[in-house]
Amino acid sequence: MSRPALLAGSAHPALARAIAGALEVSPVDLKSERFPDGERHVELLETVRGRDVYVIQSTAGDPDGALMEALHLADAARRDDAGRVTAVFPYFAYARQDRRAGGRECVAARLVADLVKAAGIDRVVLLDPHSTALEGFFGMPCEIVSAVPLLAEALRPLVTGPAVVVSPDLGGAKLASQLAALLGVPAAHVHKERTGPTRVSARRVAGEVRDRTPLLVDDMISTGSTIKAAAAALVAAGSATPAAAAATHGLFVGGAARTLGETGIGRFIVTDSLPGPAPGIPLATVGVAPLLSGAIARLCGA
Ligand code: R5P
Repeated sequence: MSRPALLAGSAHPALARAIAGALEVSPVDLKSERFPDGERHVELLETVRGRDVYVIQSTAGDPDGALMEALHLADAARRDDAGRVTAVFPYFAYARQDRRAGGRECVAARLVADLVKAAGIDRVVLLDPHSTALEGFFGMPCEIVSAVPLLAEALRPLVTGPAVVVSPDLGGAKLASQLAALLGVPAAHVHKERTGPTRVSARRVAGEVRDRTPLLVDDMISTGSTIKAAAAALVAAGSATPAAAAATHGLFVGGAARTLGETGIGRFIVTDSLPGPAPGIPLATVGVAPLLSGAIARLCGA
């Protein structure tokens, strides 16, 4: 196995350090700064010539800035004659914009995939992207890793009676089924309609939820509107208030703590694919460094 050269973007240094620690390597020494006019500038302070390079960046918080930094790092590695460049995106922004929902819109997921290729990246690693169909947007090998088994283990102690794993929308039904199979309980999903960036409506529930305790699971919790609408729909359908809501990516933006606090849900579980705790909600975090370092180790050995 060749030793990977890790280029850590600045979006989530703690996760990059944890991945490096698990792989027993030190991240490549580099400089990443902004010029006074706001432009990004990066410089590798040691060579990666001929090496198997992994750019690690979660594109959240400032998704455009984080993405641009990852592209800069990949380009710097490519120009230094790296052997191969892989981008590891623990969270990949823009994945939800995978089609034109209305009229004259940009299909941003495709645009970003094209930018990734243009930066000289040979391969990407994605952790539970919004849709696995995203793979088709990348003209390069795409390794998708899933935190579902980790979420299942975190949820298992909460399965103390009749339970059901519920996706808050149809798009997440497959994820919910996988998690339900691991827990040995049935799966269901809510019919959700998005009526605005922070507004969703959810009424119908598909699956048997009456007199069961739901465990909600989604790929991400952003504003919390989806989880709140799903919890209300479940109670209206005769189930208990969900015991927990779990998601791979906890963005917690736009008043999410207040919105989620209104649901009555007693436990939220996310991974550390994004930095920072969500204030004011009962939150447990599952680490994904072993998962991502394992993927890198596998790819290095290939
Ligand atoms: C959308 O289809 C996603 O899977 C999530 O359900 C959604 O992005 C969550 O967003 P929010 O928390 O803002 O409702």
